[in-house]
Amino acid sequence: MAIKNILVEPNKLLRKVSQPVKIVNKDVQNIMDDMLETMYSANGIGLAAIQIGIPKNLIVIDLLTKEKKKDPLFFVNPKIVKKSLKMSKYDEGCLSIPNLFAEIQRPSECEVEYLDYQGKKKILKANGLLATCIQHEIDHLNGILFIDYLSKLKRDIILKKLSKQKLDQKRLVI
Ligand code: NI
Repeated sequence: MAIKNILVEPNKLLRKVSQPVKIVNKDVQNIMDDMLETMYSANGIGLAAIQIGIPKNLIVIDLLTKEKKKDPLFFVNPKIVKKSLKMSKYDEGCLSIPNLFAEIQRPSECEVEYLDYQGKKKILKANGLLATCIQHEIDHLNGILFIDYLSKLKRDIILKKLSKQKLDQKRLVI
């Protein structure tokens, strides 16, 4: 396993539409292992493969709800097959838009079909934070970021703060 570099907006790759995985083999499992390690090291709860520059339909999620015990979920070729009409709001963040958050409204429940780490077909009904997270990560596979749901004004404020963050990081401190 290895910790990979996480792409930060603006980056053209983050806008790329990822492709389905044909077979869940060792190579695919290795990518998911790297994604998980990268996500944990960045204190994230979800990561899509494109965020480490790999345009494949892969996401990993771990809400770390069970007393911070690791309980990862691996999704290969995830597809939302049902969404609730009921919506809920969550203050979303993203490892590709570090340290910035905005309230986003999404369906509060969803049903997702996918292949698991072993390549076995699964279906999961999600609600609460898990439903939000799955929808956020699947958006990444379609080149969509949470800021795309905001008004231009709010989006521009976040992008401005983001570029300021980058400048501050480049500044050398002795
Ligand atoms: Ni994200």
